[in-house]
Amino acid sequence: MSGEWWRSAVIYQVYVWSFADSDGDGIGDLPGVRSRLPYLRDLGVDAVWLNPFYPSPQADNGYDVADYRDVDPRFGTLDDVAGLIADAHDLGLRIILDLVPNHTSDQHPWFRAALAAPPGSRERARYLFRDGRGPDGAQPPNNWISMFGGRAWTRVGSQWYLHLFAPEQPDLDWTNDEVRAEFEDILRFWFDLGADGFRIDVAHGLAKDPQMPDLGEKQIATGPAPEGHPHWDLDEVHDVYRSWRRLSDSYPGERVFVGEVWVQSLDRLARYLRRDELHTAFNFTFLLARWSAKSLRTAVDDSIGHLLTVGAPATWVLSNHDVIRHVTRYGGGELGLRRARAAALLMLALPGGAYVYQGEELGLPEVTELPDELRRDPTFRRSQGADPGRDGCRVPLPWSGAVPSYGFGPGAAAWLPQPPEWAQLTVARQTGDPASMLELYRSALRHRRELPALGDGALHWLSTEDEVLAFRREPGFTCVLNVGDVPVPLPPEVDGARLLLASDPAADPGTLPAASAAWFAAGR
Ligand code: GLC
Repeated sequence: MSGEWWRSAVIYQVYVWSFADSDGDGIGDLPGVRSRLPYLRDLGVDAVWLNPFYPSPQADNGYDVADYRDVDPRFGTLDDVAGLIADAHDLGLRIILDLVPNHTSDQHPWFRAALAAPPGSRERARYLFRDGRGPDGAQPPNNWISMFGGRAWTRVGSQWYLHLFAPEQPDLDWTNDEVRAEFEDILRFWFDLGADGFRIDVAHGLAKDPQMPDLGEKQIATGPAPEGHPHWDLDEVHDVYRSWRRLSDSYPGERVFVGEVWVQSLDRLARYLRRDELHTAFNFTFLLARWSAKSLRTAVDDSIGHLLTVGAPATWVLSNHDVIRHVTRYGGGELGLRRARAAALLMLALPGGAYVYQGEELGLPEVTELPDELRRDPTFRRSQGADPGRDGCRVPLPWSGAVPSYGFGPGAAAWLPQPPEWAQLTVARQTGDPASMLELYRSALRHRRELPALGDGALHWLSTEDEVLAFRREPGFTCVLNVGDVPVPLPPEVDGARLLLASDPAADPGTLPAASAAWFAAGR
């Protein structure tokens, strides 16, 4: 395991709820993940990020943590984590855990103690309790809104507490020394157990303006935080990450942080990646880019350019457990699949690291038809169904067989129903089929490991027609992407080069079909 591995790592996201179920209760678990580690090694990724598996009432599928140093019995035990880390390391895979520092569960002992204690107490000071407005305090302290809909305050007795997400997720007060000490201790606990790093949930949200001013009209919007916002992207968060970096640097073997940072600009993002802060962050600019050559190229250039100013590598991500799967975002059906195949070759050829969300290597689409009573995402309930929520990208993986749960678990049970079409998309079905999405990912990842040009480094654009992007990476690698709807001739720069991989394997020599990409190596 070489130095600065994270500068070019491909990290596979395992959504524990939905990856593999070992005991047949319909919910994925850690023994399930452990049994499938060889699949991930063979896929060719470098590391695995596990979504939260800690004890939790699961009001937000584990992003409401009741105990940061244990495992929810639904998912297994601490021994399972230790075994999983050991097996992963034996296979050459690293394990990244998910840390949720912005808020705890309302069932966390600290919050229960806070509710039992009076206003002004040490117990309440770990959270953000405030008196209400109006003569009897019946109005919330300000107009802040929850990311999941509705207001960000819930009243308990004479006070209100802040929750930027669900009411079951009270926000911590990061000016409190006890909070800071506790999280450093949690980091040490998992680093001591062998974890290779952490993904930091809502990394831009920890600090709040102590005056807690009302949001202005423009700030009452979700998505990347406009500057001057009273609870997103405040400068005070950086101090937290500097102290965490000192802590991670004190461990052997390059432990890393990746931030979930939704901010206004790549300029602001780069601030989280200064040399003494986080190692990397998800690049949502790329995820949000439209399917057009201009939009994709701008996202690539801006990302690389801004991150270079702080010496950080870019990372690339197309999907995760919070967004509509990209096959569907790119138009769905055959077109969505073609574009997703091309996007995979683009992503994996770009300089830096990449994230693969479980199931994207199978070409899974978003599942739009789900029974309302099975939807678990709090956004669905809190918006009275106006927002379908994020369950559609969280449907359990199809592994094998022709009937549900398609090998997800030992029987038919799966907490969200898998569509019948997924019988065609199982790992078993795609394995060995050179035209499958799975074999495309496997080949791309194999080349990526073998070719010195890929991973960290620089790119050099070739001049191309409007809807075509082409770039070189040294030594001797070229990626060409046709975003448009008609075939185009290959650029002259790849004359005489060897075709390594094409997202449309049926292409005529010399042309690049619509919505497709290809990789070339210099020489025959
Ligand atoms: C992050 C997670 C998301 C969760 C939210 C609140 O955005 O990715 O799934 O709901 O934080 O913790």
